[in-house]
Amino acid sequence: MENYKLPHADFEISRLIFGCWAVVGGFNWGHQDKKDSLDAMREAFDNGISTFDTAEAYGNGASENLLAEALGDKRQDIIIASKVGPQDFLPENVIKACEKGLKNLKTDYIDLYQLHWPNPEIPLVDTLGALQKLKDDGKIRAYGVSNFGNQSLDTCKDSGFTISSNQMAYNLIFRAIEFSILPQCVSDNVPILCYSPIMQGLLTGKFASAAEVPDDRARTRHFTKDRPQARHQDEGCEALTFQTLKEIKKFADENDVSMGNLSLAWLLAQKGVAAPIVGGRNADQVKKNLKTMEVKLTPDMISHLNDITLPLKEELGNNADLWESVSRVV
Ligand SMILES: NC(=O)c1ccc[n+]([C@@H]2O[C@H](COP(=O)([O-])OP(=O)(O)OC[C@H]3O[C@@H](n4cnc5c(N)ncnc54)[C@H](OP(=O)(O)O)[C@@H]3O)[C@@H](O)[C@H]2O)c1
Repeated sequence: MENYKLPHADFEISRLIFGCWAVVGGFNWGHQDKKDSLDAMREAFDNGISTFDTAEAYGNGASENLLAEALGDKRQDIIIASKVGPQDFLPENVIKACEKGLKNLKTDYIDLYQLHWPNPEIPLVDTLGALQKLKDDGKIRAYGVSNFGNQSLDTCKDSGFTISSNQMAYNLIFRAIEFSILPQCVSDNVPILCYSPIMQGLLTGKFASAAEVPDDRARTRHFTKDRPQARHQDEGCEALTFQTLKEIKKFADENDVSMGNLSLAWLLAQKGVAAPIVGGRNADQVKKNLKTMEVKLTPDMISHLNDITLPLKEELGNNADLWESVSRVV
């Protein structure tokens, strides 16, 4: 496994991060077997994935609990990235949320503590000050942000507080951050951790049409606003999305690589990307995703993937919010 040194942090993360959201099942994911979840996390660790991304919001602490259960005995050898939700951005609440996270995780420090989504109602500088205090007190080793757009990134930069990462939705069929967020992150030295890197399974080719995608995963702006759980007001672009997926699949087949591995390898090749954070619901999926590290893309392959996904990138535009028309990524 390759590793990556985050700025303003005295540790490295693995270049594939295990995402601990789906392993709790429930909202967005449905039924999940606990043994499968524990096996998935241990499979990841046993094969060099040191870094695990979780959040209090994932199952109201259940994901943090599960990580402690799966790998608590390996605490010194894993990197825990967790998050505080925007409802808790008042400084005193950041501290309380962190204490709760530490309890859930059964540990006395979190390696990377991230602000989950911007909260324009609370001065960001105050929230960052609380994160710095947690770092000074040894409760966290570094802090980062998530879903932060240009304006919030500007505030971070001007504040003098040093963020180590920005976690954003980024994958072959959702390239919105390329318009202005990724360039700013590159220039500010804020590496990107990519969430939903295989677009919640779509980039494995498991769904042949929009109709096959379960409603809770069809909430994104790729799909029509008429899907029952959609929160956006867009028409969506289902035909173009599935045409693009078909072309990616064809290219993957021609190169004898799985679509999922190709998609993750493409992310790893992007300037400014530290690591994709990929979910896996069982050990078998984790094994398959790990094969990404064997894939070497040539510049021609990368540019072909850029070309075939460009129409969809342009159609979805620069709104980096996967789920809402009025972007919460500010
Ligand atoms: N900061 C944020 O706002 C934010 C938002 C979303 C996610 N995240 C983080 O990013 C992580 C990953 O994102 P994500 O879970 O949304 O999406 P993802 O990693 O793109 O997709 C994960 C899902 O794809 C399916 N899958 C995984 N590997 C597979 C394989 N080899 N073959 C077939 N299917 C496979 C699994 O679901 P099925 O088997 O059910 O198809 C799995 O749960 C999360 O766990 C979380 O840590 C952060």
